[in-house]
Amino acid sequence: MNILEIIEKKRDNKKLNKEEIEYFIKGYTNGEIADYQAAALIMAIYINGMDEEEITNMTLAMASSGEMLDLSDLGTVVDKHSSGGVGDKVTLILMPIMASLGVNVAKMSGRSLGFTGGTADKLEAIPGYNINLSIEEFKENVKKIGISLITQTGNLAPADKKIYALRDAISCTSSIPLIASSIMSKKIAAGANKIVLDVTCGSGAFMKNIHDAKELAIQMNKIGKLANKETICVITNMNEPLGYAVGNNLEIVEAVNSLKGNMPKDVEEVVLSLGAYMLKLARKGENIEENKNRIQETIKTGKAFHKFVELVENQGGDITYIENTEKFSKAKYEIEVLSKNDGYIKEMNAEEIGKLASKLGAGRTKKEDEIDYTAGIVLNKKVGDTVKVNEKLATLYTNKEQYEEAKEELERIIKISEEKVEKEETILGIVK
Ligand code: URA
Repeated sequence: MNILEIIEKKRDNKKLNKEEIEYFIKGYTNGEIADYQAAALIMAIYINGMDEEEITNMTLAMASSGEMLDLSDLGTVVDKHSSGGVGDKVTLILMPIMASLGVNVAKMSGRSLGFTGGTADKLEAIPGYNINLSIEEFKENVKKIGISLITQTGNLAPADKKIYALRDAISCTSSIPLIASSIMSKKIAAGANKIVLDVTCGSGAFMKNIHDAKELAIQMNKIGKLANKETICVITNMNEPLGYAVGNNLEIVEAVNSLKGNMPKDVEEVVLSLGAYMLKLARKGENIEENKNRIQETIKTGKAFHKFVELVENQGGDITYIENTEKFSKAKYEIEVLSKNDGYIKEMNAEEIGKLASKLGAGRTKKEDEIDYTAGIVLNKKVGDTVKVNEKLATLYTNKEQYEEAKEELERIIKISEEKVEKEETILGIVK
């Protein structure tokens, strides 16, 4: 067997067998297969796809490419993962909520990918917060306070780490087999026994339509079953950014405000839905509506916010920033974008807003780029809202001087109609 034969097979749209997939994953992880050969194969998979058996074999090979965590000494651990979005700060809000309700949270999060943000980058925006704990420290933290949020350790699914970065560099992110195997390999290697997945759908997601989002959810559910991990997928709308803030410091502030009870409506719907299913999987409540009430209650009583403070403190973060978010540094330029018309917000394409926030400094265009934590966009409106001429639509935050161009771009992205616009549903489906 050699890599050229494997590339040729997928290039010609033929099915790869288990041994061929394992040969590729092993060879690429240990450096025997070159980046350009892996890029060719990934592109062929992107174009020609994979069937269920291939996706499962790819997932299992990636999961076992490094350490497989054993979290059994922590009891039931429910993991959560999103297939990526713009303004997605759900992990930061939901996980402390779960821990405050007695569900053990041991979660590893990724960095930004393409136009989507990454929770690991957002956590690093909190001065002092250490996302690079050893597995022992990670587990100790969960035992001590019921929650730890870190980034993927070097030895957990290393094949995914390499392929994830490669996909980003060769424009091969939005593919069902590649996303399903990427997410599920990490979840299997990370040791949780129950998984709730947020499958995003729309302009700011990799899955642009409900058909593809359902297909991704079904594939991930099947892999979960095969791996003996109870899995539930919630399909959520990502046509406009989630909440109002896009950018690292800005999203931390929105997450803190949410935990204090001031949560944007769409964020709340996602948090309640994912959280209710997490409680169900953790055997903490069968009734979804009652579970949602308990989540609202733990926010109201301040328990969820205190759990977040405890998490930040336990991982070395400066909690004075969480207690007073005014302390987060601000970008040099704050530029308001005003409406030129009366009407209704018709569209705010999330992918375009994600890319613009990235250009302002909030994300990376190259792997080695440094993130500007202060940069980003805060929207003032959601789709369906009314707007008056000269009313504020959004504020841009950047340290770059070329903000005029960005301002014009945002004016173009936010579409206003004279006719009334209906709000879209946030929760688009559940796949169990
Ligand atoms: N999140 C992941 O972990 N992997 C993907 O491929 C996309 C989103």
